[in-house]
Amino acid sequence: MNIQLLNKNTSDVKADVLVQFLTPDDLAGHVQIRVLNQAGFKAEQDSICFLHEKGILACGIASKDADDVRSACACMIKTLKSTNYESAKIEVICNDTLPAIVEGVVLGGYEFNDYKSEPKKSALKEILLSSDALDFDVLEKTFNDAVIIANATCFTRDIVNTAPQEMHPQSMVALAQKLASENSLECNILQEDDLAKEKMGAMLAVGRASIHGSALIHLSYKPTNPKKVISLIGKGLTYDSGGLSLKPAASMVTMKMDKAGACGVLGMIKAASELKLDVEIHAFIGAVENMIGGNAYKPDDVLVSRSKTTIEVRNTDAEGRLVLADVLDYAQDTVKADYIFDFATLTGACMVALGQYTTGIMGHSHKLKHDISKAASNSGELTGSLPFNRHLAKLLKSEIADISNTSSKPYGGAITAGLFLDKFIKEENKKRWLHFDIAGSAYTETPWDCNGYGATGAGVRLISQYLKSIK
Ligand code: BES
Ligand code: ZN
Ligand code: ZN
Repeated sequence: MNIQLLNKNTSDVKADVLVQFLTPDDLAGHVQIRVLNQAGFKAEQDSICFLHEKGILACGIASKDADDVRSACACMIKTLKSTNYESAKIEVICNDTLPAIVEGVVLGGYEFNDYKSEPKKSALKEILLSSDALDFDVLEKTFNDAVIIANATCFTRDIVNTAPQEMHPQSMVALAQKLASENSLECNILQEDDLAKEKMGAMLAVGRASIHGSALIHLSYKPTNPKKVISLIGKGLTYDSGGLSLKPAASMVTMKMDKAGACGVLGMIKAASELKLDVEIHAFIGAVENMIGGNAYKPDDVLVSRSKTTIEVRNTDAEGRLVLADVLDYAQDTVKADYIFDFATLTGACMVALGQYTTGIMGHSHKLKHDISKAASNSGELTGSLPFNRHLAKLLKSEIADISNTSSKPYGGAITAGLFLDKFIKEENKKRWLHFDIAGSAYTETPWDCNGYGATGAGVRLISQYLKSIK
């Protein structure tokens, strides 16, 4: 399906269907009010009424806010895809809601059908957005940017949704190399022998029982005059069985999504390079598979991380923080960044704290957290701040090593995981770093907003919006 923006009055655009977004207030003045009334349409949010004879698809919205328009647009596109219509047109009223329309259409219409022998076919070929406004140039730039970001989000979703037998650490490497050559990015890969030379004892331990070699992927996008340098670090557990502290059967299902941080970071650097932003971006990915076997790392092992901090393993299912400990340390030594952001499906506790829709943000800089949540509110992604405190930090104390990989108390697990990562952030970077726990927001088994079943692409819209705001 193709989406286009035309510099035309909507009445001059040829399409099978005219889509209209209507608030309950708009409804009163609608020319088809009688028919809409008869159909019981009250313009409630996400309700839909198809007037086939008139070629009108009426979509209810609670308000003209971007969040309501995006959600209604996602409902609209699903309805349209199930009909035989080939084209639909939408009048663009303002610049503010244009990204929401694009997101609703592209992300709401996204499907992952790679493993279906007979995927459902849709007749829908094009969505035509139109405006004859004087500031069409402004609209066009907004539209093009929104399409790049939505496509990068779908790119991330595709990788996360790919089955773990296919998307293992070495296929992540191949995929990163392909992205690098397509988008003119620099690419450096550290394979297991390189990781051993770097003394990445924590990351290597996690991947030891896998038949696929672990890898650290470093991609860079370097514009000529960057305003800032940003390092993005992603947890890339292509499968998390829990290791010897094996996950219960039901909790293991969906754990292909434990690579969503890494996939998100790939989507972010893809978007930044296509948007041609004046920000230098470094993506660091720890691609590892957490399995069981005779050579698996085990509870009671003591690992020596790259930073020399020793770690007592008390639970092999708290593996993401071990991988990130080494990747964060390597990233800080490799690039002097203004900001360091890591993305990880790190804890089930983050979902307990914030619910499944919200990304947990942790860090020491109130200003950075504030700037990010401002960008978030314009991006359609939800974020919530989880506060560090020194009492929770003490729960990571180990009797035999420098730190334990689990907390001694069952509460505040998302924060104690963030505080574990904090141990690997160098003093000079404390205020430059933020940790994003996307355990809940990265994947869904029940559709919400413009997210269908599976990966959501969490982080891509949020960070793209933030990067665009950098002056
Ligand atoms: N990948 C999981 C976290 C997770 C759980 C993500 C559910 C998405 C959905 C992570 O590696 C993990 O297993 N964390 C443990 C930590 C615990 C052992 C301290 C958890 O959350 O239970
Ligand atoms: Zn785990
Ligand atoms: Zn994990």
